[in-house]
Amino acid sequence: PLDHLESVWLFGYGSLIYKADFPYLQRHPAVIHGWQRRFWQGSHDHRGTPEAPGRVATLIEVPEARCAGMAYEVTPDVFAHLDHREKNGYLRFFTTFAWLDEPATVEGLVYVAGPDNAAYLGPASEAEIATQIANSAGPSGPNSEYLLKLADALRALGEHDEHVFTIEAELKKLLQQG
Ligand code: BEZ
Repeated sequence: PLDHLESVWLFGYGSLIYKADFPYLQRHPAVIHGWQRRFWQGSHDHRGTPEAPGRVATLIEVPEARCAGMAYEVTPDVFAHLDHREKNGYLRFFTTFAWLDEPATVEGLVYVAGPDNAAYLGPASEAEIATQIANSAGPSGPNSEYLLKLADALRALGEHDEHVFTIEAELKKLLQQG
């Protein structure tokens, strides 16, 4: 039901921040309010396997929180390409994005994987999450690459994400130990 629109904004808060494998009209650093990034979604088809699922980002609703990411303006056909990810439990919602660097907002879509999807893993300590990430890889590559590239991309946006940066520090300790 997006087909009547000429373009749609999409908010990326995971791999979409550093890797857009689709065409887009423009992109802009953005933030959404009331949502918090958490590595609580399992990945058995991209960054893990059914035997050893990885952990990837989803959003949880936290009224006072914010989540920074990258917004992409895309044509509606791009969602056909992105919707295959719904097989791994993501559903899309309309919400408001604010630009990180100027006082403007747009309405757009964001993909969220909630507790009711089969791949959901839920909370764990950041050390436990790092251990699981260190031990997972799938068709899209090592789970550690996803986390480390996301942390770098957030730093490049000038953002401090306590959850991501704590997992990153724990993961780097594990990778150094070999
Ligand atoms: C993301 O990278 O922001 C993302 C992409 C698809 C589903 C969920 C999140």
